[in-house]
Amino acid sequence: MNVLGIETSCDECSSAVVRDGREVLSNVIATQIELHRPYDGVVPEIASRLHTEWISQVVASAIRQSGLDKSELDAIAVTSRPGLLGSLLVGLNFAKGLSAGLGIPFIGVDHIRAHLYAPQIEHPQEYPYLGVLVSGGHTVICKVKGFDDFEVLGTTIDDAIGEAFDKVSKHYDFGYPGGVMIDRLSKSGDSHAFLFPGPSLDSPFDVSYSGLKTAVINQLDKFSTGKPATPENIAASFQRCAVGILMKRVEKALEFTGLTRLSAGGGVAANSQLRSELKELEKKGIDVSFPSLKLCTDNAAMVAGLGYHYLKDGLHSDLDLNASARVSQFKKG
Ligand code: KG4
Ligand code: ZN
Repeated sequence: MNVLGIETSCDECSSAVVRDGREVLSNVIATQIELHRPYDGVVPEIASRLHTEWISQVVASAIRQSGLDKSELDAIAVTSRPGLLGSLLVGLNFAKGLSAGLGIPFIGVDHIRAHLYAPQIEHPQEYPYLGVLVSGGHTVICKVKGFDDFEVLGTTIDDAIGEAFDKVSKHYDFGYPGGVMIDRLSKSGDSHAFLFPGPSLDSPFDVSYSGLKTAVINQLDKFSTGKPATPENIAASFQRCAVGILMKRVEKALEFTGLTRLSAGGGVAANSQLRSELKELEKKGIDVSFPSLKLCTDNAAMVAGLGYHYLKDGLHSDLDLNASARVSQFKKG
């Protein structure tokens, strides 16, 4: 079955065609990064206007590049939540119109679940596995029991990990997008120039990033080892600690659940240090899966891929489905 995916939840206008949940026939991503760069962050009004201007061309390109005729599409999967409301509505309403025009069903997909599905496109794993979702808006450690069945073990109690990267970068003018710039600077920095502390929390699997963010932004001297406060040293020391906070919980969650498979997705799964530390888990016998860089950050292939599984189970959405800025509820562990 060929599913057309549409993703407009934030600042990427993306459309893809994926066959049977895994074979990516096309994945077009029109990024708005350059247009938000002057503001050091995504401006919601600009984002939704650009989606409105770009969406038909992006979808047409995805269909063209797939080599299929639109009559060969079986369904449309579209991100309906969570995200910027105005941006979500552009993709959702386009999907509804196209689905009515082509006479095929459409499926509203949760963006977080799509990020958690993304690693399965290139490196499929059997359920259950430990899911690690690390993005600009979310940090979730969960037991994934099925494509729509999650048990949350831990989450952030304040900032998401990507948000911490973005805020530190913005404060020090490292550039935009923050995560990418910090990753780049860290490569030539001393990650032990500043020894930032990690949080101590009641729940063993929860994370917190606001303390680290405050330490990096306001208390550099307090945690200095005497090395110079260069952008490279600040970035590398922050990144080591940010990744360390997550890895500590991930390792505990693996021990606690006894799971031997792990799958990481979301924009921060593109981080080189996180990828190499996750890879290290393979030495302990853990099967680790994370997406190639293009499938880490926002893209429609993950939406189309996940949509296929709903379609296969006979599930699709009604035309009255609305967009929502909020995340749908995960089952609590
Ligand atoms: O998944 P995503 O594209 O959008 C959300 O759903 O949030 O994630 C965007 C986040 C941003 O915070 C960005 O700074 C971060 O992913 N990011 C990175 C890297 N590439 C993107 N963070 C750390 N290292 C990277 N290489
Ligand atoms: Zn995302």
